[in-house]
Amino acid sequence: MIDFHNHVLPNVDDGPTSMEMSLSMLQTAAEQGITDVVNTVHYQHPKIGGKEVGIDDLRFKIEDLLKRSKKRGIDINIHLGAEVFYLPNLLKIVEDPHVTMGNGRYMLIEFPFHMLPDGHEQVLFELKMKGITPIIAHSERYRPVQQNLEIVRNWIYSGCLIQVDGGSLLGYLGRSAKESAGKIISEGLCHIIGSDVHDDRRRNFCLEKAVTVGKELMGDQIIEMVTTIPEKILKGEPVEIEEIEVTYQSPTFLDKIKRRFDIIWN
Ligand SMILES: [Fe+2]
Repeated sequence: MIDFHNHVLPNVDDGPTSMEMSLSMLQTAAEQGITDVVNTVHYQHPKIGGKEVGIDDLRFKIEDLLKRSKKRGIDINIHLGAEVFYLPNLLKIVEDPHVTMGNGRYMLIEFPFHMLPDGHEQVLFELKMKGITPIIAHSERYRPVQQNLEIVRNWIYSGCLIQVDGGSLLGYLGRSAKESAGKIISEGLCHIIGSDVHDDRRRNFCLEKAVTVGKELMGDQIIEMVTTIPEKILKGEPVEIEEIEVTYQSPTFLDKIKRRFDIIWN
């Protein structure tokens, strides 16, 4: 399995606070059958306070963690990615190789939990027009989504992919997130599941259990969300998703996308 959304490097963001904790987390991952961990470092998140580690340092730290994990007999690959905090500047930062994944074709984007910024749809649209597919991080955890699932449908309709946290599905992140995750998955609106690990306690790897619960909701199709779909993203290959119907739409924005969506992938 590929676990697409995680914070596993020690002391680079709000993830593990020691090398020992990172190694213990990776051991847990391997025991769950996870072969690949994507380390999605927070990028321009207010809680990091401008203390981002540069991409060369991050690559060095990943190599170091890989060496130490191999020494312990933990057989796992670690990929470097970013979880980009939404600001209106997304089109300006795309030249930074750290912010995209899959040869520059995908960007994992998170929003503030309590509100979705005005105008974000237009920025996502412009990213898509540039050939970068937005992946909405832990979509079930946003308050507006918990109140209105149509927001997720609109994101998909406009060409975004949807990621859900395994911990939400398992109830580790509150009742609202659990309910919302369950609905997103059972209605076929999820494309990727990630553990979104931060530590070796409450926010540790949980993909194995999440997949078991997800199977009850939507059957074996859940397996693609931890295997073939994240694999395609890492390789920069297109991910084909089922067409979606929306009941609420902003005609000018969505119609523009509908007309031009195929141009990007075809
Ligand atoms: Fe995260």
